[in-house]
Amino acid sequence: TGSLVIAVDGTSGSGKSSTSRGVADRLGLRYLDTGAMFRAMTWWLLREGIDVGDTAAVAAAAGRPVIESGTDPLAPTITVDGIDVSVEIRGDDVNAAVSPVSAVPEVRARLLDLQREAIGSGGIVVEGRDIGSVVWPQAEVKVYLSADPDARAQRRTAEQGGTDVASTQQSLLERDRIDSGRATAPLTMAEGAVHVDSTHLSLAEVIDRIVELAQERR
Ligand code: C5P
Repeated sequence: TGSLVIAVDGTSGSGKSSTSRGVADRLGLRYLDTGAMFRAMTWWLLREGIDVGDTAAVAAAAGRPVIESGTDPLAPTITVDGIDVSVEIRGDDVNAAVSPVSAVPEVRARLLDLQREAIGSGGIVVEGRDIGSVVWPQAEVKVYLSADPDARAQRRTAEQGGTDVASTQQSLLERDRIDSGRATAPLTMAEGAVHVDSTHLSLAEVIDRIVELAQERR
């Protein structure tokens, strides 16, 4: 499993995290949640009182926070300047600001370095939006995971113990719109990616499908 890299990209709420962690656990690989890194950057900018709509201010600050990811698929961690922010980065304030922050090229360049460093010599499942297209185009397995907006919103709302499916869906679709439309490393189906639509599949079925792809290709 040394050099194997599995890239899992896709829309918000398509099940990338549960799927990627499950695949990594099954295959004995590490796991990197690049979305958590963008969320950690966003959390830090908000805490510093930096106006996240001010692209120049965000660009100037992007080099400052120390962001570290733990890559155990059963207990992934994310810290900023040594503070564990695993819970805080899932809040509504971060949800609303993360896509504009992630569109800033200096933010992407900074995190791209950290992502490639974490991937290192491989043996890892990496989830995000631009893993197969930009971060690691040489990945042995590339998956583009999608699901219908209704299915995504329902799952995400249930996950968070909430009830407002409509507002969850609106937030997911707004992030997709910004993530797909940005100039630098937009969300797209990478060349060579296998499209898996999880709308009518269980989590176990999606994991099985990707494990099969990995076994075919190694
Ligand atoms: O995966 P998650 O939904 O946690 O990602 C949060 C946000 O981080 C995305 O909506 C996107 O704006 C950004 N992101 C990105 N590139 C990645 C991973 C996440 O731009 N590789």
